[in-house]
Amino acid sequence: MSPIDAPTPYASAPLLRATGLTKAFGAHEVLKGFDLEVRRGEVVALIGPSGSGKTTVLRSLNGLETPDAGVLAFDGGPVVDFANLGDRRSADRSRRKLRDRSAMVFQHHNLFPHMTVLQNVMEGPVQVQRVPKQRAQEEALALLDRVGLADKRDAYPFQLSGGQQQRVGIVRALALKPDLLLFDEPTSALDPELVGEVLSVISELVAEGWTMVIVTHELAFARQVADEILFMDGGVVVERGVPSQVFTAPVHERTRRFLDRILRPFE
Ligand SMILES: Nc1ncnc2c1ncn2[C@@H]1O[C@H](COP(=O)(O)OP(=O)(O)OP(=O)(O)O)[C@@H](O)[C@H]1O
Ligand SMILES: [Mg+2]
Repeated sequence: MSPIDAPTPYASAPLLRATGLTKAFGAHEVLKGFDLEVRRGEVVALIGPSGSGKTTVLRSLNGLETPDAGVLAFDGGPVVDFANLGDRRSADRSRRKLRDRSAMVFQHHNLFPHMTVLQNVMEGPVQVQRVPKQRAQEEALALLDRVGLADKRDAYPFQLSGGQQQRVGIVRALALKPDLLLFDEPTSALDPELVGEVLSVISELVAEGWTMVIVTHELAFARQVADEILFMDGGVVVERGVPSQVFTAPVHERTRRFLDRILRPFE
């Protein structure tokens, strides 16, 4: 289950560079010039208060949201300049190309309720990527086996625990063989006792060298797995750095206040 064609980590060009992303919903400016660079094999954790724009960033990277301006450049393409998307067809094409490079794991697993676990995992490869069914099934079963869910292949999502559902959600993203994995608070909808099993799957993926952007409130986890922490507030990155720096010696007052609120909520 290693990343497809993953070259040596930290190869020269970043896998992804986002520059100056802006996005407004009506009069509400949600992203006000967001920048990000992700190198191959790197894990970036995006933290910040509710409403700061984290999900909008991930959705933009994945082509689910269309920023008003800014550039997303993947090594090997596409390079998308949102201020100059062209006509509707070329805009759609750009979004599709973005979607080909990354896969997203959502807070709520978003599994199709009427499909079995195996069908859920095979859906993207077969319907979108036109992978032959037989091969898609073999790969899906191998992935399910990796996260301890091979015996659930014929179960429906409602028959699984929240942690199992989320592990299927992760497998469904992996089955697309993306270059970049995007996690949007993958454990925040789970009962506390189920959080660990999902974080341990993500840790394994980190150890395997997958490139990831993770939005999470699990600060201890972020500190453990991330190469870089980005603290976002009000649609911009307020502070970025290695975990030891951001968590123990944040430079900005806003970062300090946010960390205090999460780490010491009752004080
Ligand atoms: N489709 C939309 N239409 C209108 N407003 C939106 C839309 N999507 C997001 N917003 C607004 O943009 C702001 C940023 O939302 P976003 O979901 O990116 O924040 P977030 O940092 O992920 O927050 P949370 O931690 O609560 O998930 C919020 O105020 C939200 O209400
Ligand atoms: Mg969010």
